[in-house]
Amino acid sequence: MNKTYVLMSVKILWLMVAITTNAREISKTKNFNKKTSFLGQCKRYDPKLNACARRVFNEIKEQLVHGIPELFLPPFEPLRIPEIKMNQDTGGVCMQSSYKDIELYGLTDFTVKELDFDLVNTKLKTILEFPKIRMQSLYTIDGKIMMLPIVGAGPCQANFTNVELDVNILCETVSIENQVYLEVKDIEVHYEVGNVTMHLIDLFNGDKALSESMNQYINDNWKILSEDLRPLLEKALREFIKSSSDKLLTVYTYRDLLPE
Ligand SMILES: *[C@@H]1O[C@H](CO)[C@@H](O)[C@H](O)[C@H]1NC(C)=O
Ligand SMILES: *[C@@H]1O[C@H](CO)[C@@H](O)[C@H](O)[C@H]1NC(C)=O
Repeated sequence: MNKTYVLMSVKILWLMVAITTNAREISKTKNFNKKTSFLGQCKRYDPKLNACARRVFNEIKEQLVHGIPELFLPPFEPLRIPEIKMNQDTGGVCMQSSYKDIELYGLTDFTVKELDFDLVNTKLKTILEFPKIRMQSLYTIDGKIMMLPIVGAGPCQANFTNVELDVNILCETVSIENQVYLEVKDIEVHYEVGNVTMHLIDLFNGDKALSESMNQYINDNWKILSEDLRPLLEKALREFIKSSSDKLLTVYTYRDLLPE
């Protein structure tokens, strides 16, 4: 069987990416408040920089619930994503699916397992742990999973437990109008998930028996099935983090973020 990964017309419409207006322009508007209590608290050459950053990160976590406009962060509890469309053809899984009105709960309930600034190479490494992320949305699915036809539309729910997110951001310093800014050069994202339970309601036009056995099949095999999604999800996360950091780093100078 052809094992190469083919992704066609993958469309992920993140709420934040949808706001494509230049962040530097936004920051010049009247009601944009560049002063934020979160940034500039930690000194760049403080030997305890990582501990300080971790503390600030924990403060931000509480504010994330309602969003932090000065940091271009939308409300995270829940995080709303208008739509994710997927067109998968990996041999085992061949289907078109779309998820609409996605709500993610639990994203602000993380622990910072690692947070490490490497000032020499302007690199940031962080590992976050989420005990439980709950998703609800509307879905449509049409295709085949391991030769079994799957078709349906309706509400769906999924729980992801013990999610570990490992993010490495590599930056470069650039000078713009006599100010030093950071610019993202590369982002690596990797995640591990402890367990997934999922429920697709109204599969097969609401046929109870077929629907239950397919849901059972998906839940029993989530580990194999979700590996197919890994490249797509990691790419989506990378783009999401890139777009958020780009906005932050165009508005705040290196000194705003980490004073000397
Ligand atoms: C994953 O969740 C299912 C359903 O709750 C449970 O039966 C299974 O034991 C869990 N697996 C792990 C590794 O926790
Ligand atoms: C997800 O967890 C919630 C409780 O937090 C539970 O009510 C719901 O049934 C779970 N859904 C699935 C699909 O496991």
